[in-house]
Amino acid sequence: MPAPRIKSPHLLVAESGADREGHGLKRTMGLFQLICFGVGAIVGTGIFVGLSDSVAQAGPAVVVSFVLAAITCVFTAFSFAELGGAIPVSGSSYSFAYAGLGESTAFLVGWCLLLEYGISISAVAVGWSQYVNELLHSLTGVQLPAALSAGPGDGGIVNLPAVIVIAMASVLLVRGVRESARATAAMAAVKLVILLAFCAIGYSAFKHGNLTPFSPAGLGGIGAGTTAAFFSYIGFDAITTAGEEAKNPRRDIPIAIMVCMGIVTLLYCAVALAAIGAIGGKQVAGRPAALSYVVNEVTGSAVGGGVIAFGAVVAIASVVLAVMYGQTRILMSMSRDGLIPRVFEKVNPKTSTPVAGTLIVAGVFALPAAFASLDAVMNLCTIGTLAIMAVVNIVVIALRRREPGLSRSFRVPFYPVGPLLGVAFCLYLMYETGWQTWLQFAVFLVVGLLIYAGYGRRHSTLAQAAAGAEAAPEVTPSVAAERESQAV
Ligand code: ALA
Repeated sequence: MPAPRIKSPHLLVAESGADREGHGLKRTMGLFQLICFGVGAIVGTGIFVGLSDSVAQAGPAVVVSFVLAAITCVFTAFSFAELGGAIPVSGSSYSFAYAGLGESTAFLVGWCLLLEYGISISAVAVGWSQYVNELLHSLTGVQLPAALSAGPGDGGIVNLPAVIVIAMASVLLVRGVRESARATAAMAAVKLVILLAFCAIGYSAFKHGNLTPFSPAGLGGIGAGTTAAFFSYIGFDAITTAGEEAKNPRRDIPIAIMVCMGIVTLLYCAVALAAIGAIGGKQVAGRPAALSYVVNEVTGSAVGGGVIAFGAVVAIASVVLAVMYGQTRILMSMSRDGLIPRVFEKVNPKTSTPVAGTLIVAGVFALPAAFASLDAVMNLCTIGTLAIMAVVNIVVIALRRREPGLSRSFRVPFYPVGPLLGVAFCLYLMYETGWQTWLQFAVFLVVGLLIYAGYGRRHSTLAQAAAGAEAAPEVTPSVAAERESQAV
């Protein structure tokens, strides 16, 4: 078996210019913007739409499910923080896998990132559409017809609001990262305020009796609830995709990841307890726009529910924006490495953003948003994300062995137990997604492998450098030195 094609962390950093300006990208994001970006990427459809599904599985014990999902993410978040601080490049887990496990694994990670980011853009946009209708209803008493607000699987023809939110996000992203970061920060603030207001209303009607029976479906229910709740945490790693646009990535990326995880976990548990404590788990379970319903029930008026729907519309739009940003940056890194066509790495000199890549991503993922149902894509997104997270934990171990001297601004605590537990939790949640999801995932991976064998392997910049072929056009002395040392 040939040795894996590994790209050294030093080459990755030198190519991306992590310690200076990146490939035409501007360093505009400070710690506060990174935290806002993280909250923007994480809090959305999962809590506003998915909470009722998690409660249907676990009952009031959904709080335990949220904590278990958070623990899974926290172990991996430590690993992301270590790698994000050591290799601050926009490719995130894809680039980490390239450095730790080699090119074919990296390609598959990049391929799975299309599930975590791309497909979740579509899923989140579909969730947005539900709350747009809820908001319209509370403002005007009418809703968009199902034909124009749901895909064929949900009794409609085309989901226009889902397409519109993707189009709006792409316009913002094309205009510039500073504009996008400002919009994300404002939207993150709105959703935090709305969810805190929700908690205040829920706790005003809190009854202890609503928490019993605490775990109606036992441990199995908690496990299934954890898999459902996991979707709400997807996106925390998006912070690492800002490695080339953060002002001080080595210090700020690890801090931003940890702060975001803390804020979001507390928020989710508080919201779940407020909802169930106010009206009982049975009333929340499986209910569309559940948070609006809770507020309407507690206040006895539709106005509060309308305000919550407004918050959901803002919150979910910010997830679309942040996740789409992450997707374009990852594709940029893969394109720079020659594993996918070069169009994705082109940065427009006027806006300093990857305009063509952004428009392609918007166009491609608007299609499932227009025609697919939320449930159909959520599980696939979850299993793909968990697989990536498992790989990231393994990369930490591989890189500690291969590159012990690498400068690490943050180190995973309880090494190697922490990353190993991260892998174990990820595998357990993957197991919980069920065999149909595994089957779809296996087919997806095989298609990815075929594309790598047919295109990526042959066009790889690393392989071409090793073969003495001409490498990428702009080669700085540090990059050239690194490439030379790799090409032996
Ligand atoms: N965590 C993101 C959301 O809940 C995907 O919308």
